[in-house]
Amino acid sequence: MTSSEKETIKTQKFDLLYPQDQIARRIAELGSQISHDYANKDLVLIGVLKGCIIFLADLVRHIKLPVEMEFIAASSYNGNMIPESDVSMMGGPKSSLTGRHILLVEGVVDSGHTVLTLTGYLKRLEPASIEVVTLLDKPDCRTDEIKIKYVGFKTDNHFVIGFGLDAAQKYRNLPFIGKVID
Ligand code: IMP
Ligand code: MG
Repeated sequence: MTSSEKETIKTQKFDLLYPQDQIARRIAELGSQISHDYANKDLVLIGVLKGCIIFLADLVRHIKLPVEMEFIAASSYNGNMIPESDVSMMGGPKSSLTGRHILLVEGVVDSGHTVLTLTGYLKRLEPASIEVVTLLDKPDCRTDEIKIKYVGFKTDNHFVIGFGLDAAQKYRNLPFIGKVID
């Protein structure tokens, strides 16, 4: 990264898109829906790092079931806002997933390529089911056909930051979601 690019990142401008209280209310709704849908099922949440972290931490505290948490690291954006053609994966669940119900937890779904790649990989472990929950969905950006069971907010085709989502690894700690402006 050049020094002028670094300067841009330091001074990233954004508009507020989803404030904290609205996100909190929506996550509580998702949590109770998931608690209802998975009652009496062996549920394993698999968080997609790093974008899932804040969302998953909040969501899991609204799920009133004895869930397990696992994590997998995936990356398709190479430190900036330009999508790469492929997804790299690291880590992954340590316990057996055979016959169990997997809920993949994402911060944002864009092209769908990350979710498609991860669900393809996880299916080979023969779970009872695989579904996806994402805080944000950008359906207009979709190139891969995927099914997402739970969506926090549907949003337009713009780059968002905060609540776990980054621009060049920064801004994940914003407690709200902002829309990047040029
Ligand atoms: P997909 O594979 O194109 O669906 O992209 C999903 C991944 O790209 C997410 O897990 C994010 O890491 C990243 N991404 C996509 N859109 C955004 C955005 O607006 N802000 C931050 N990260 C994004
Ligand atoms: Mg990223």
